[in-house]
Amino acid sequence: MQSRYHEVYDGWVKDPEGFWAEAARDIDWFKPWDKVFDGDAGVYGRWFTGAECNTCHNALDRHVASGRADQVALIHDSAITGTIAKLTYAELLAEVNALASVLRDQGVGKGDRVILYMPMVAEAAVAMLACARLGAIHSVVFGGFAAKELATRIDDATPKLIVSASCGIEPGRVVAYKPLLDAAIELSAHRPETCIILQRLQLGCDLVAGRDIDYAETVGAARAAGRTVECVPVAATDPLYVLYTSGTTGQPKGVVRDNGGHMVALKWSMENEFGVKPGEVFWAASDVGWVVGHSYIVYAPLLHGCTTILFEGKPVGTPDAGTFWRVISEHGVVALFTAPTAFRAIKKEDPQGLFVPKYDLSKFRTLFLAGERADPETIKWAEQKLKVPVIDHWWQTETGHPISQNPVGLGILPVKYGSPCVPMPGFDVRVLDDAGHEVERGTLGNVVVKLPLPPGCLPTLWNADERFFNAYLTEFPGYYKTADAGFIDDDNYLFIMARTDDIINVAGHRLSTGGMEEVVAEHPDVAECAVIGIADAMKGQIPCGFIVLNSGVDRDVAIIEKEVVGLVRDRIGPVAAFKMVVTIKRLPKTRSGKILRGTMQKIADSEEWKMPATIDDPAILDEITEVLKARGIGVI
Ligand code: COA
Ligand code: AMP
Repeated sequence: MQSRYHEVYDGWVKDPEGFWAEAARDIDWFKPWDKVFDGDAGVYGRWFTGAECNTCHNALDRHVASGRADQVALIHDSAITGTIAKLTYAELLAEVNALASVLRDQGVGKGDRVILYMPMVAEAAVAMLACARLGAIHSVVFGGFAAKELATRIDDATPKLIVSASCGIEPGRVVAYKPLLDAAIELSAHRPETCIILQRLQLGCDLVAGRDIDYAETVGAARAAGRTVECVPVAATDPLYVLYTSGTTGQPKGVVRDNGGHMVALKWSMENEFGVKPGEVFWAASDVGWVVGHSYIVYAPLLHGCTTILFEGKPVGTPDAGTFWRVISEHGVVALFTAPTAFRAIKKEDPQGLFVPKYDLSKFRTLFLAGERADPETIKWAEQKLKVPVIDHWWQTETGHPISQNPVGLGILPVKYGSPCVPMPGFDVRVLDDAGHEVERGTLGNVVVKLPLPPGCLPTLWNADERFFNAYLTEFPGYYKTADAGFIDDDNYLFIMARTDDIINVAGHRLSTGGMEEVVAEHPDVAECAVIGIADAMKGQIPCGFIVLNSGVDRDVAIIEKEVVGLVRDRIGPVAAFKMVVTIKRLPKTRSGKILRGTMQKIADSEEWKMPATIDDPAILDEITEVLKARGIGVI
């Protein structure tokens, strides 16, 4: 099939508002918009101003009303507990109604924040939708974060209520969530009035009298009584959720997502970008704590009338490297979306792909990879073993849906390995030099998007318009700064090569090295430190900390390094995957005192590097090379 991409993209270029108004016809609105786009509203403009809608209505009620009541909406497949549970659209709506009733009993209403600190259980999606139903704003916090990170989010979002669970389950260990939740509440200045706690069979927990209520008991009672709550009309521009993501400091950024534009963009993406039809089974193997989980486990597939899979497990070890193929075959998945690191993990365990032919993958059509750069070797391996197109696409927590992709639904374009293909309608992507001038095709530079951002992207940061403006819109006036470096080739294909800030990408998880440095610096024996991301064959990057000890410290260096590792795990969480600390005598710096992190990273990754002209003392780089060599880190 000839791709319609160019025709569709040009259509958007000619009439962006007409394009999105047309896409918006696929959404039920309680009140139509006054303006498709109001350039005077918000920080850079707002979409669908004046309109009223409800995201839960569009994800559930409208499908139940239009004949999908008995279609499975959500499959909870837990490879880690060996259980599978299915909820039809009618059943999921009943669950959401029951929890929404309990939330309302606890005083949660439109505009209130609710933090969800949940493992990968169906109740996590139920809670997101119940908040949406009430017009409350959810903020999901990933389970791999420590109490301190949760506390930071509690203080920023000031939730009325928190929904959590007794435990999460990681291979080989049960993660007790409740002590982390209690510690976070203890650490935070803001105190939620109520916590609703889901007790899991693997590990129960005590409830705090006067604050905690039992999920099963209260929601069960509401369910048994058949209680329902009407969908609360909200403005299209009202926030649906706040999702915190790493910024350049330890203070995470609260990315705001609205209701109206978000629904329009996600619904459009399912058919046109992912090539999936209503009624089909779509699986995003991510976590509800990340943006991929928000957009493509919960909202997009449900808005589109698909069956979605919420998978609790890992690509390997639960129980083996055939788990993904088992899920695809057992549930008739047509499209899988995951991070390249998952495939690198599978390839490492089963390089020959021996597990693949054991399963019937006849319904499986497309593999989508995002979250980090997809290395050509991994793409080629997946293509060979699965015999389906492998689509790399590029986006960010901030954009909520793909900026660039090979648009399968519009007709696939030729694949170029290493490129997440072409910009999607809504995104006018340019590459600028540091002075803000557009560079020539093929030249590396700052990847930016011409304003306004399309529907579905962040309108601002939670309670922080100025931070939003300063972080994203000031460096290149008129453009949104993606903080990615890359280039565009002669065929308009994008190549995303690296971040331009201190963010690293560890197993598809976005982490701030600046945030880690803040924690490392807290160790009493550490005088100075630097954290860099170094290349890792499986996780893409892993953090490596360099510490300089205070003069006079004579404790065992190995013990100090272990303590620093423990400190980061304790403060940020296991997800930081911070396991490597190297003690050095001095940090390499410029004469003006800036730490030369980029050069350290090149040394560790055995990349070519030039002696920075501004370096204060070149001998320090030799010292670092020696220490890394001796430790067998990075340098070959
Ligand atoms: N709750 C508690 N702890 C968690 C957690 C959660 N939800 N998720 C991860 N962790 C822990 C892990 O148990 C691990 O702890 P450990 O140091 O005690 O081993 C640590 O955080 C690091 O996790 P991770 O980086 O995921 O490494 P891993 O070795 O457990 O798994 C992969 C590696 C590649 C299998 C895994 O990262 C994966 O499946 N990635 C898929 C990609 C993905 O989901 N990306 C998200 C964005 S699309
Ligand atoms: P997150 O906000 O966690 O989704 O991370 C977004 C960042 O991940 C982007 O800014 C990129 O640096 C990186 N990223 C995501 N997808 C891709 C991709 N397909 N290719 C290269 N980098 C990617």
